[in-house]
Amino acid sequence: MKKIVVQGLGYVGLAMMTFCAGAKKNNKYLYNVVGVEKNSKKGLEILNKINSKQNPKIVDDKHFSKFYSKLLKEKRIKASTDKREYSDADVIFVCSNCDYNFSKNKVDLENYVKNIDQISNRIKSGCLIIIQSTLPPGTTDKILEPLIKKNLNKRRIKKFLLCHSFERITPGKDYYVSMNNIERIIGSKDKAALRYTKKIFNDVFKLPSSKIVEFNSPSESETCKIIENSYRATNIAFIEEWRKFCSINNLDLEKILNCIRQRHTHSNIMRSGVGVGGYCLTKDPLFAGASSRQILKKNFNFPLSSKAVEINQKMTFDVMSEIKAKFGKKILSKKVLLIGVSYREDTNDTRMSPAEGVFNFFKNMQCKINFYDPIVNYWKYLNSFSIKKEDLRNFDIYVYLIKHQSFKNLNIKYKNKSLIIDLNHVLETKKRIKILKNKNYQSYFIGSK
Ligand SMILES: NC(=O)c1ccc[n+]([C@@H]2O[C@H](COP(=O)([O-])OP(=O)(O)OC[C@H]3O[C@@H](n4cnc5c(N)ncnc54)[C@H](O)[C@@H]3O)[C@@H](O)[C@H]2O)c1
Repeated sequence: MKKIVVQGLGYVGLAMMTFCAGAKKNNKYLYNVVGVEKNSKKGLEILNKINSKQNPKIVDDKHFSKFYSKLLKEKRIKASTDKREYSDADVIFVCSNCDYNFSKNKVDLENYVKNIDQISNRIKSGCLIIIQSTLPPGTTDKILEPLIKKNLNKRRIKKFLLCHSFERITPGKDYYVSMNNIERIIGSKDKAALRYTKKIFNDVFKLPSSKIVEFNSPSESETCKIIENSYRATNIAFIEEWRKFCSINNLDLEKILNCIRQRHTHSNIMRSGVGVGGYCLTKDPLFAGASSRQILKKNFNFPLSSKAVEINQKMTFDVMSEIKAKFGKKILSKKVLLIGVSYREDTNDTRMSPAEGVFNFFKNMQCKINFYDPIVNYWKYLNSFSIKKEDLRNFDIYVYLIKHQSFKNLNIKYKNKSLIIDLNHVLETKKRIKILKNKNYQSYFIGSK
């Protein structure tokens, strides 16, 4: 049986490892699969979760939980920190992170290159490396391929296959579906690498060839991902501009946006929000300029993408400043409950979550802050656990941030004079109308008058 190794078991790698481990033909498993994590505090935490034989529950997705638990029972889930696992691998999926250093305004390529070093110093001849990490365009071609060649040359190995294929998984209730049922983009200069990658995706996801788009350069696959995410980040920033305008002029932005959505060409226009969080949209648009500066050495700027990131970074502060202007002293020293602290719904991922900025705002207002988020459960930023459902009463201010599925049946009995703030369209119209009608409450609904 051929062996697949997945490097990095975060939100992308855990899913990739699981899908590879579950790949079957004629009712027989196709591959031996091992996930390799870093020997770091975070890596060991992930390994402990996986090896404790429980579902790691990083997302609230029934499909994925069922799939993962079944494979766990059949002892198909294996993870380790042992780099020797790369030595006899036939295929390696690289799902480790390539970070952006915001203070130095550059991509942290040095660290990422180490991940590829670890692989290329150990692999056998003919191994296929599929890079799934989001990278600045040009990285695979100009930096990774020469590095792999150099390392293999030292061991007199000539043959290897290299391909870039970015990932589109969406952590949340559609975690399983968003990976299983999507088109794959693959890019390589090498036809044999494209053929082999296609076969692997075919085996693992039962994808017909028509759902796999080939590029004859990895830079095009890398660019595809950066444009996708920059497009989204820019659209969000665009709406933030109008949110501010409507707020200052007391106009109902959400009603206006609903009218615009009636045009089918504009049906996916963004909503207003309290900020952009997560690992990807916060950094990926900056990979465009970084590619020109650090890799392709071309004098090419991306003013729109850079500005979008800047607007999105300021969004939480700007929204909270408006709330301060509106409610001022009424907020001072109150008991506040933040509801949902992950960066998006139905995941425990809190990286760069706008909830951090919201928390800081209330902290500055000398408030006593708790949070309720059964999926996140333990919030590193606060170094504390979520309160229990039974303890949702008795706060002065309720701040809705994320629409987890489990919040649908949340019926909080607010105290008289409560301030209810919905920063992310969490509350359904019925609940909203009830709050607006009740003269005992004050409220703020983002994007509305
Ligand atoms: N999170 C998403 O929704 C998403 C979606 C599409 C693409 N991506 C991209 O996919 C990549 C991974 O994203 P993620 O969210 O899973 O990141 P993550 O930080 O959750 O996971 C990366 C993992 O790789 C591990 N790692 C780092 N160096 C390693 C090494 N040398 N050996 C073994 N493990 C190592 C880290 O410990 C970490 O657990 C990134 O490039 C990201 O931009 C993420």
